[in-house]
Amino acid sequence: MGHTIAICGKGGTGKTTISSLLIGWLIKNKRGKILAVDADPNSNLALNLGFKPTANIGEMLDEVSKNPAMIPRGMSKPEYIEYRIQTEMVEADSFDVLVMGRPEGPGCYCYVNNLLRDIVKRLVSSYDYIVIDNEAGLEHLSRRTMRSADLVLIISDDTSVGLRSAKRIDDLIKELDIKAKKSFLVLNRSDNNSVTKELKDLGIEYLDSIPVDKEILELSIKGKPLTELSEGSAALKSIERICKRLWQ
Ligand SMILES: Nc1ncnc2c1ncn2[C@@H]1O[C@H](COP(=O)(O)OP(=O)(O)OP(=O)(O)O)[C@@H](O)[C@H]1O
Ligand SMILES: [Mg+2]
Repeated sequence: MGHTIAICGKGGTGKTTISSLLIGWLIKNKRGKILAVDADPNSNLALNLGFKPTANIGEMLDEVSKNPAMIPRGMSKPEYIEYRIQTEMVEADSFDVLVMGRPEGPGCYCYVNNLLRDIVKRLVSSYDYIVIDNEAGLEHLSRRTMRSADLVLIISDDTSVGLRSAKRIDDLIKELDIKAKKSFLVLNRSDNNSVTKELKDLGIEYLDSIPVDKEILELSIKGKPLTELSEGSAALKSIERICKRLWQ
């Protein structure tokens, strides 16, 4: 049975960056079959991993809504979409990418998110690790995908506003009826020494921190994938430490 890791946190804290780097580590260390799930409607996880996503659930849903006759007899709409997603999902040698995307129609997010959750639930047994990059905050959409997580990493900067927001997310996770065995705080763009006291007062389990990395900024400006980070990258070193702590 696969390990499901959900990455969440407030907007712009580094969820997609950290998801990509964790996935990169799992691939490099040959940790089996990996599914990368982009559960943010403004998706960019695939691009960070160096792929141009070909299919996403939102677009497929629009296509099927416009042309319902394409659903084979005896198949329900969700079954058909799930079948299409599984056959058209971006596939690389050691990992697959599943993208939620955004449907055009109003009020479709819940539907597309439910589909995503159901597909992930069914796929769990086919992968060793599933890494879910969530949308910002802990909106009702992310809460649903979060339910199946074994491990939740809450990403924050080290400002007091950021930390309070991380704490709210942690409280929500604990309130939710989720199976999450563990949730941890990861500080990004941070030199953690400055907030040791705040962390103690906050009562949230702190895992590690990742420093500002100029290389990440440069790649981001050029629109290049994080797979091009050099071995010497400061963030990669922290990711290495985090992954070893979690999985070795
Ligand atoms: N450790 C870091 N050092 C330097 N730049 C970083 C670091 N982490 C993230 N960034 C940059 O910060 C920006 C936001 O990061 P990212 O997209 O990963 O955040 P996010 O939480 O996924 O945002 P959103 O809430 O919009 O999905 C990106 O341009 C990224 O390259
Ligand atoms: Mg993101």
